[in-house]
Amino acid sequence: MSTSKRNPAITISALALVVLSMASCGGDPNSPGVEYMPDMYRSPAVEAYVDYGQDPYHFSEELAQGQRNTQSAKLPPVGTIAFAADASKAQFNMPYTYPNTVEGYEAAGLELKNPIAMTEATVEQGKVIYAKFCQHCHGEKGEGDGAVVTNGNYPQPPSYTAALKDLPEGKIFHSLVYGKNLAMGSHASQLNKEERWLVTRYVQYLQNGGKMQREMAAVVPATPAAAPATN
Ligand code: HEC
Repeated sequence: MSTSKRNPAITISALALVVLSMASCGGDPNSPGVEYMPDMYRSPAVEAYVDYGQDPYHFSEELAQGQRNTQSAKLPPVGTIAFAADASKAQFNMPYTYPNTVEGYEAAGLELKNPIAMTEATVEQGKVIYAKFCQHCHGEKGEGDGAVVTNGNYPQPPSYTAALKDLPEGKIFHSLVYGKNLAMGSHASQLNKEERWLVTRYVQYLQNGGKMQREMAAVVPATPAAAPATN
């Protein structure tokens, strides 16, 4: 048999293949045609912040079980410490260990020290935070005469230059974490630890009457009491 003579059956099936493969380009224009490993381009659309295991549209326990393992944006496990790319700032991500009790407040006052030095730059940074978060109650100079107090019925905070003049930095920070009584709210969710320490520096600056260092009153030696008369 000469090779030039083609088998008509092969020719027909080859033609049919060509037609078939072209047919995939027709039909529904939105169809992507045959997909190889479709899960690579059709990943499940998991919504961030949805706890799939507690789906309000809870259809069946079986479905919820499967969804409970669905990856989504989740809260970090308790005790997670955020990574700090700048190692010098890692300490600000460490947990605050003093409890919200009278003892915790007193201990913080004695032991807790501001890791941020009092410099013109840090006072300036603290001032920006103070103007945004504190001034409307505590007043520009910290005398408890902010607009919220003078315009309304809001209780007046004690003055940084009088009643709170000697409040130690640890207690200032502690009160920023937990708040103080009912009138002063916690600022832990608005200000991170570094910002709380910066604004603490500014409060101290106000305690010093708008100075970096407190002027020490000249120590006058107490005049010795008159010696008790003998006999
Ligand atoms: C809504 C008004 C308000 C705001 C805002 C506010 N405070 Fe206060 N703050 C008060 C009041 C009122 C008190 C007095 C609370 C008390 O002793 O009962 C107080 C008390 C304090 C004390 C004394 C705490 C202590 O241990 O005795 C400090 C320090 C202080 N605030 C700092 C700040 C700083 C810093 C900010 C801003 C980050 C701020 N406050 C924001 C109202 C406010």
